[in-house]
Amino acid sequence: MERLQKVIANYGYTSRRNAEKLITDGRVKVNGIKVTLLGTKVSGTDIITIDDVVINKEEKKVYYLLNKPREVICSASDDKGRKTVVDIINSEYRIYPVGRLDYDTTGLIILTNDGELANYLMHPKNEVKKTYLAKIEGLLSKDDIVSLKKGIVIDGRKVDTSNFKIKSKNIEKNTSLVEITIVEGRNHIVRNIFASLHHDVIKLTRTHYAFLDIHNLKSGEYRLLTLKEIKRLYSI
Ligand code: URA
Repeated sequence: MERLQKVIANYGYTSRRNAEKLITDGRVKVNGIKVTLLGTKVSGTDIITIDDVVINKEEKKVYYLLNKPREVICSASDDKGRKTVVDIINSEYRIYPVGRLDYDTTGLIILTNDGELANYLMHPKNEVKKTYLAKIEGLLSKDDIVSLKKGIVIDGRKVDTSNFKIKSKNIEKNTSLVEITIVEGRNHIVRNIFASLHHDVIKLTRTHYAFLDIHNLKSGEYRLLTLKEIKRLYSI
């Protein structure tokens, strides 16, 4: 049970102080009965109305899969006015990205208004696999390969980097294309892994997130997840 003014404020309807005024002005009803007493407690199943409009209706949950282009920021808004992943998706719901890709990283990202699923997928214990294709400066040496197989310590914590594959090498340009699958979700993790081996990442794209892949989505394109995919994400 929570105080009515707090519940109204938590729904994002207005500030707690304004909510108090709405209550004392007699504009708030709980289960159809006018409540003017500040501090009245309500539960999650109580229907709250302001001027007879329900404010705590369950919002429909939506799930999008986006192939994020470069130079787009992974957040709901940006104080520097840069384009965000949310700007790309035409949705009437208040969605946000599940985790982050760097401004210059491209590839798969899920956006949703389902906080429960978002937290579930981001929780380290659920070990959601993410696959990246990294174009790196230079060629991986034997020592680099041994280090990747053993795991790399980043900021005092070891990352399992053993699941990697050198896809191609460009001797002339001195670059390599490496695919790496990790469960880590820390910011800049792939760039930091290769930086620790003294290879800059020139280009980075996420090709897989759990069982989802980038196929059929061009840069900037997105689609809704199917019910089957949503259920599968919940059962990871
Ligand atoms: N690792 C990075 O370094 N950058 C990303 O955007 C994602 C993973």
